[in-house]
Amino acid sequence: MNGSPAAKRRLLALLALLAVFAIACDTGPQDFLKSQASVQTQKADSLWDVTFAIAVFIFVVVEGLIIYALIRFRQRPGREAAQFHGNTKVEIILTVIPSLILAGLAVPTVQTIFENSKQPPDALRIQVVAKQFWWEFNYPDLGIVTANELHLPVDQTAYIEITSPTNDVIHSFWVPRLTGAQDAVPGRTNTTVITPTATGQFWGQCKEFCGLSHSRMRLRVFVEDRSTFDQWVADQGEEAAEPTDSLAQQGQELFVNGQCAACHTISGTNAAGTTGPNLTHLMSRRTFAGAIFRMNEGNLRDWVADAPAMKPGSIMPSGLKSMGLSQSDVDAIVAYLLTLE
Ligand code: CUA
Repeated sequence: MNGSPAAKRRLLALLALLAVFAIACDTGPQDFLKSQASVQTQKADSLWDVTFAIAVFIFVVVEGLIIYALIRFRQRPGREAAQFHGNTKVEIILTVIPSLILAGLAVPTVQTIFENSKQPPDALRIQVVAKQFWWEFNYPDLGIVTANELHLPVDQTAYIEITSPTNDVIHSFWVPRLTGAQDAVPGRTNTTVITPTATGQFWGQCKEFCGLSHSRMRLRVFVEDRSTFDQWVADQGEEAAEPTDSLAQQGQELFVNGQCAACHTISGTNAAGTTGPNLTHLMSRRTFAGAIFRMNEGNLRDWVADAPAMKPGSIMPSGLKSMGLSQSDVDAIVAYLLTLE
């Protein structure tokens, strides 16, 4: 290698680039190659291990033969290369072996696909509705509608139906450690199955480009032990408490009789819109708007005042610029939202 300063600089730049790639090998919260937390992803991972082992074996054999041929048959003075065309026997072998490997791999692959889509009779039914740019989670048998944060009991299979409203676009539901990606297509229902094997918090992400805030369309899954999950179900089933504080009462008035009620539901009030998230137990969630903002007073105030400024392409209009709210109206509405525990 030539040791000129330019060559050294190029080498340094290449090493720096490799270091950047190496960072991507770290175990992140959405890593799907390690620490799978559901029966389905564990099965998919075992399948991947088998496929990978076969691929490594073939790689070593093929590369070994190439290196052997390069050395054994390298150019030497006075020696002429063998002149021939085609070799039927070799060609047949090279067609039959890969076909057998692929046919062999198809057996466990198809088996895993069927096993992973099985719906046991005692499964917890959940409907996921993907919208620009957030997730609605509906538990039809429990009468719960929530958003962005999915709660699942550990060791029970959840049968998940995924769709998107007919006036929306295609999204994709993906929680790498719990399930592979499944498209949410307007007017169509796809399904996925999750049997969580560990409690904890898992991150998901919309995986289909769906507009300006596609990257801000995340979700969280809380896998809980049975009693924690049952408590959550009981809390979600209650109607919203009436506000006692006067500012919050004023906010409720504005919310229920104004434009907010056209898009949002708060059970126990006249607000019954279904375009936006159900806000009955808003404060029981840790995040909002596609699980990207922490649920706190400051963020809620900014959101109600001007949602599209916080999240480009948001369907939720700006309170100050489009809905004719004043800053004190916004403060009152936020005071009301803070009571929705
Ligand atoms: Cu929804 Cu990307």
